[in-house]
Amino acid sequence: MGSEVKAYGSKAALATVARTQPTWKGPARDLQAMAAVVRFDEHQRLQHVLMMSSFIILALTGLPQKFSGLALSQWWVDTLGGLQTVRAIHRSAGLIMLADCMYHLAYLGFRIGVQRRTGPLRMLPAPRDLRDLVQMVLYFVGIAREKPKFDRFSYLEKFDYWAVFWGICMIGGSGLILIFPVVATRLLPGQVIPVAMVIHSDEAILAVGWILIVHMFNVHLAPWVFPFNPAIFTGRMAAHRCAEEHPLEWERIVSTGRIPHPAAVTHGSAVKRTFVFDRRRAVGTFAMAGSAARSCAKGLSTRAAHWWARLVSRSEVS
Ligand code: HEM
Repeated sequence: MGSEVKAYGSKAALATVARTQPTWKGPARDLQAMAAVVRFDEHQRLQHVLMMSSFIILALTGLPQKFSGLALSQWWVDTLGGLQTVRAIHRSAGLIMLADCMYHLAYLGFRIGVQRRTGPLRMLPAPRDLRDLVQMVLYFVGIAREKPKFDRFSYLEKFDYWAVFWGICMIGGSGLILIFPVVATRLLPGQVIPVAMVIHSDEAILAVGWILIVHMFNVHLAPWVFPFNPAIFTGRMAAHRCAEEHPLEWERIVSTGRIPHPAAVTHGSAVKRTFVFDRRRAVGTFAMAGSAARSCAKGLSTRAAHWWARLVSRSEVS
């Protein structure tokens, strides 16, 4: 999460810059520097690989236990070698995930406390995120002219990170209680075991849903990154994408003088083309939605009036 400004210029990356920035006339050295910037260091990439793989194993061994009545779960548990094996795999993967969390916390402590690098602190929520969120909504409905300018992490990325952080505290804490029930009940009342089971079981559904829907969409399926965002695996991000998606971060990188000004790079942005929103169309959509809601409300109130009149007349007859 540091603000490294190392720039890469592989042949493929240079070809991408040449394709996306056909008007770029800068010297080859600058072009090379534009190709890619470091977004994640090797520790962050390793932490993500551990998290991702342990999560997949945990979901594949936890869900068949939760939905044990399904024929598919029974087939899967038998295929893996029976319930004892599945539980052992689940517990081992759980401990790997918790070890990965420790690794992440130690990494943060070292970066911030020892190396005095403030990059990771940019993941902390700030009032600016709320303003960005409001501006993004206004942009999507066609009221704001421009998208908010994000720094190293957008409000969505921060939300994604903190949601996982919180989820792991819940699922990991309850999982530990389930692995060590005797120790847990020495320190806490016995009711903690069924409570931990409910938390663990429900949080598992939330976690799988979150990763499959929100995380996958934000990171890989959104139109501006579709079909795949390799940054967390390669550690690099194309310079033109950095300039488009994280303009404030990009300007900081540029201010070091090792990469040309963002104006040269943001030119011809695909993101802008995808997301130009016609304000008149937005107003029209609102007007249509308003009139549909009005006629709906009118229809409902007429029906309610009829229904009320019939009820009253029936009670008068009886
Ligand atoms: C983070 C560390 C985790 C630990 C230490 C852990 C541990 C456990 C333990 C001890 C059990 C009880 C079954 C048994 O005795 O083996 C369990 C059940 C379960 N776990 Fe985990 N787990 C962890 C993470 C996860 C994750 C990330 C998921 C889902 C994505 C998950 C999903 C489940 C499910 C669905 C059950 C079955 C609950 C039920 O029967 O209702 N676990 N886990």
